Amino acid sequence: MQALLGGNAIAVHDIEQSLMGTSLGMDMKRGVSVRGGHRHHLKAINTICRCGSIAQAVEQGVLTTGIFYECIHKGVPFSLAGSIRDDGPLPDTKMNLLEAQADYARLIQGADMILMLSSMLHSIGVGNMTPAGVKMVCVDINPAVVTKLSDRGSVESIGVVTDVGLFLSLLVQQLSKLTSPYQVSQTV
Ligand SMILES: NC(=O)c1ccc[n+]([C@@H]2O[C@H](COP(=O)([O-])OP(=O)(O)OC[C@H]3O[C@@H](n4cnc5c(N)ncnc54)[C@H](O)[C@@H]3O)[C@@H](O)[C@H]2O)c1
Repeated sequence: MQALLGGNAIAVHDIEQSLMGTSLGMDMKRGVSVRGGHRHHLKAINTICRCGSIAQAVEQGVLTTGIFYECIHKGVPFSLAGSIRDDGPLPDTKMNLLEAQADYARLIQGADMILMLSSMLHSIGVGNMTPAGVKMVCVDINPAVVTKLSDRGSVESIGVVTDVGLFLSLLVQQLSKLTSPYQVSQTV
């Protein structure tokens, strides 16, 4: 993966899960809400604000797991485009949309394939700025989103109507077959 494009939500939910094991106060392992969990979302945002940024939270040893920890750790660039729905927002989220669009356009330069995973807003935005010939795979549980993307001109996109969790676990299985045949023979 060469870059990650998203909004405030993916980072806030990922960071809440990394720091407290919850998403909007729901325990992600047990699927139940935890006592005082309603505070976790804002606590996660405030923690990152105090550190200065997601990268600084990783440097300071505050954030030690999760998608954004891995991005910083492995040097994968990311861009978070803001919206009016955002809580906080995080210091990394770009609230100037022209700057965010320019950042997205820079990061998709030279991309062969773009995976669009359960974000209608960002998928259609990226679809609009992607040149012809780039493969796009749009995964969403709502068939209307996949259709909307094609209707707006991203006709080359392949739509997969499914749960994104299921898609990602199958993708990981297939990728590990390509990269680690030993590991697969052990687990089959
Ligand atoms: N805490 C926050 O700050 C916060 C929270 C939520 C959203 N937002 C912001 O609001 C904007 C829009 O948010 P969004 O991208 O979440 O909404 P969106 O409506 O653009 O996209 C969500 C998509 O996910 C799909 N979906 C839902 N469950 C799925 C599943 N299990 N498998 C596959 N697809 C599934 C839906 O059909 C929908 O198309 C963004 O800018 C986001 O950052 C912010």
